[in-house]
Amino acid sequence: MPGTEPLDLQSIVDDIHRELTPRLGEGKVADYIPQLAHVDPKRFGMAVVTVDGHVYKAGDAEVPFSIQSISKVFMLTLALGKHGESIWNRVGREPSGSAFNSIVQLEHEHGIPRNPFINAGAIAITDLVLAGHTPREAIGEVVRFVRYLADEEDIVIDHEVARSEAATGYRNVALANFMRAFGKLDHPVEHVLGVYFHQCALAMSCVQLAKAGLFLAASGSNPLTQHSVVSRQRARRINALMLTCGHYDGSGDFAYRVGLPGKSGVGGGILVAAPGKASIAVWSPGLNHNGNSLLGSLALEMLASRTGWSVFGA
Ligand code: DON
Repeated sequence: MPGTEPLDLQSIVDDIHRELTPRLGEGKVADYIPQLAHVDPKRFGMAVVTVDGHVYKAGDAEVPFSIQSISKVFMLTLALGKHGESIWNRVGREPSGSAFNSIVQLEHEHGIPRNPFINAGAIAITDLVLAGHTPREAIGEVVRFVRYLADEEDIVIDHEVARSEAATGYRNVALANFMRAFGKLDHPVEHVLGVYFHQCALAMSCVQLAKAGLFLAASGSNPLTQHSVVSRQRARRINALMLTCGHYDGSGDFAYRVGLPGKSGVGGGILVAAPGKASIAVWSPGLNHNGNSLLGSLALEMLASRTGWSVFGA
């Protein structure tokens, strides 16, 4: 039980890694993007970066992996910076209760996706980030932004993953065409998806990801770099969206079990903010039936319970 003693975060992270080691490989690795199916299912990494700048890590915490939908948090941050609250004319703020790639609500809701984290919503956000740019420039902006957030120059896009998804991303092509048909995309579908597939193919390690998300745990500023990224209010609002929508139709379960805002990706990563405490990233490629990392969610549940970190009470 968490008490008044200072937390020994390195021991907590090491214990979680050790206790989960016999279960590594559980869950189902995403294979609808062919290149993701090649990842070793037994990989496991975890990194905790505290708001006072300490880094605690275990396992494959420094091995880059495909961040996939976690990129939607960084894209939302960019779109809000560029267009402010007007983005909410193009995308909602309600949990979808549907799978990440679902098309059903889009017709009922006339091409306005439920939230920025389901694929349709993320594609709408990418369209907004593309404003005034060529696709190549927009991709450059995204990479520069993530490097700035993490303060790491060696973050790159895995072009094999981007190509692999572009070759097989039929559902995303359908979603984008659907929105374009409703007049809800400003740019050609090929341009928007070109940027979207590249943002999803960003390769980052748990340590890089936790550093990049630290501003969300620290009221909008990165205490490691002193960069002021967003206002305090905006950081809170992004966290609220991560809590309610960050795990698709598994968001309620994640809030119940972990109690912290988080965003998952089909590469098996999850980025979590413990406001006022730390930014946390985990990676385990096997997914649960909602497409969220099975052991990654479990590791975060263990961390939340052992630290007492929660947005729902002390
Ligand atoms: O668009 C897709 O299907 C992937 N690039 C990203 C999906 C994803 O990560 C969903 N998250 N759990």
